[in-house]
Amino acid sequence: MIKRNILIAAAFFSFSLGMAQQYGGMWIPTELNEKEMKDLGMKISAKDIFSTTKPSIKDAVVQFNGGCTAEIISPKGLLLTNHHCGYGQIQYHSTVQNDLLSNGFWAKNMSGELPNPGVTVDFIVDIKEVTAQALNGTANLAEPELSKKISANIEAYKAAQKTEPYQSVMVRSMYYGNKYYAYVTETYKDVRLVGAPPQSIGKFGSDTDNWVWPRHTGDFSMFRIYAGKDNKPAEYSKDNIPYTPKHFLPVSIKDKNENDFTFVFGFPGRTTEYLPAIAVQKIMTDTDPARIAVRDVALKTLDEKMRTDDATRIKYASKYASVANYWKKWIGEVEGLKKSNAVQKKQKYEASLIAKNPEIKTTIDGLNKLYNDQAPFALTNAYYSEVVRNAETLTLANLYSGFVTAYEAGKTDEKSTTAFKNRLSAFYKDYSAELDAKVTAKLLALYANKVSSQYLPAGFEKYKNETQNLQMIEELSKNSVITGRSEVNGASLSSTEIDKAFSNPEKLVKAIKKDDIYQLFTAMKEAYIKNADAQFTSIQSQIDILQKKYMAQQMSTDKDRKFFPDANSTLRVTYGKVKGSTPKDAVSYDYQTHLAGVMEKYIPGDYEFDVPQKLIELYDKKDFGAYKDKTGDVPVGFTATNHTTGGNSGSPALDAQGNLIGLNFDRQWEGTMSDINYDPRFSRNIMVDTKYILFIVDKFADSKWLINEMKVVK
Ligand code: ARG
Ligand code: ASP
Repeated sequence: MIKRNILIAAAFFSFSLGMAQQYGGMWIPTELNEKEMKDLGMKISAKDIFSTTKPSIKDAVVQFNGGCTAEIISPKGLLLTNHHCGYGQIQYHSTVQNDLLSNGFWAKNMSGELPNPGVTVDFIVDIKEVTAQALNGTANLAEPELSKKISANIEAYKAAQKTEPYQSVMVRSMYYGNKYYAYVTETYKDVRLVGAPPQSIGKFGSDTDNWVWPRHTGDFSMFRIYAGKDNKPAEYSKDNIPYTPKHFLPVSIKDKNENDFTFVFGFPGRTTEYLPAIAVQKIMTDTDPARIAVRDVALKTLDEKMRTDDATRIKYASKYASVANYWKKWIGEVEGLKKSNAVQKKQKYEASLIAKNPEIKTTIDGLNKLYNDQAPFALTNAYYSEVVRNAETLTLANLYSGFVTAYEAGKTDEKSTTAFKNRLSAFYKDYSAELDAKVTAKLLALYANKVSSQYLPAGFEKYKNETQNLQMIEELSKNSVITGRSEVNGASLSSTEIDKAFSNPEKLVKAIKKDDIYQLFTAMKEAYIKNADAQFTSIQSQIDILQKKYMAQQMSTDKDRKFFPDANSTLRVTYGKVKGSTPKDAVSYDYQTHLAGVMEKYIPGDYEFDVPQKLIELYDKKDFGAYKDKTGDVPVGFTATNHTTGGNSGSPALDAQGNLIGLNFDRQWEGTMSDINYDPRFSRNIMVDTKYILFIVDKFADSKWLINEMKVVK
């Protein structure tokens, strides 16, 4: 077995050696490595992927609601994304009586599709490099003048572009400010929910299986883009028509084989592949562990209640999943950084760069000093931001503090107040003050215990005990305007009550400022801002200057390497092969899972591993239709060597011909450090197989009308 693994590893290395993608890669679609892609098996051309003069695959790929990716799979604007990307919308339409999370939802026809106010999808119409324009006249400038001049240049560039009224132009910096790119985008605003499997399919394995291979989650949901009568973006109206795309993806249900070429097209959010070793070390030893510790506490407290109370489960479902998601990611990331020897590897790389260009030593020395100086502030920043995010009573206090500051500076108007009120009602809708009091009590204690006293307000030691904290919060909540539990000021905070409270903002601001919980938070915030954040930020701006220089030096010194810019939520292509992996001694992962594996994991009634009765019946009857593969079973998930990150969820995985073969949704645990140090040995992206998606839509949901819209490639 081991021998076989070594052979596989050797074969894999020889294919990756000397190739651009050996360091991973998230390529700008106008700058593809067409030759390497073709060498790996691609049959279409770079122009088929991205063109501004003819329909191309990019016309079928959108950013979904500012975060995830989605793709169009029918001539009628049918949109596919992950279940976890549509989760907020599925939850929005759910109540305890009509729980779409648990039961799933399938529109019977277009008139049954559910509107989602506020949800948008963005198309990328064009991409241009605009480095010369952005950096024009900056050669002799230093910060802060430099940034000002660049901003002015960018504004001037944007103003000079002639676009349609429904388009916008954005300019993004790449390579830490060494290059700039302009994007023309088009935003559609009427996006309706078409279908979602129950979460026992769409979220099967939930947090236990999250970030883990082998995986059996049917993590998909379907929406539809609607347009005005002219097919252009329009506000929601029941008279809108299904959007006719320039291109839509044919859906392949052919069998997959290991080593098949594949590429993923989407909007990866953020990576930091070009950091110095010292930065990676601080992430491993300081900031990731701090963030993990805070979330450990929050998650455990929420979980106890969510398991026993359905209303709480629904209220907190989406928030819990998102807090748990990065908590688990960071744990895997630290492991993976250790296992891939990321720090040593980076140190070696730095030494090799210095050998070629001795000037780089000054840059690295500078970065080492800055990261060491910043470390105590960075640690405090990690605790502070995580505590304020996870102790929701403090999150609320922080929201109110933004309002109070703006109000007192005379900077609130009708529009900003309405926006703030909307934010508050959305927050209160999914907030349980009683439950959060427990979380906040524990996190205040953690903050008091973990953060060095020079960053805390005077007297903060008294919060070191969580039981006492809970009593204190319970007591203070009775008179608190912000927790929504107060009997005073009538502010128990439904949207009508919010309206009432804000009808007299002066009185409200006075009441907020007198609120003890608010005062506790503002003391904590002020001490943090004054004693830690100011230093953190000022060192960070020096790091940014040196990192820009280090990036430029890496690019000019390491001539053999083909560089790609770190992810920044712009459209990218990553490519590789369908592949399993050998993440540990004697452990080898196949590239494909099957329905039999769902049944192996099945735990009746379990909140993570229950399986819907109908799926069990289909499995028992082997009623698989056209969706089984050569093994006779339905493939569920598969892995490949595509370099993906958060934001790539919902991205299409395509084959050599540009047909859809899978829906990206995750990465495997052993490779999640790929955001910092991609390692071709264990970094794998995880996709739902299109066969499973179509099987669920057709056989499980009886929604053949959706299959009939698609172009299925057999
Ligand atoms: N880990 C995947 C990503 O980062 C999926 C997250 C959703 N699933 C979950 N159980 N929270 O988004
Ligand atoms: N699950 C991630 C997302 O939601 C993808 C990843 O981080 O691999 O974008």
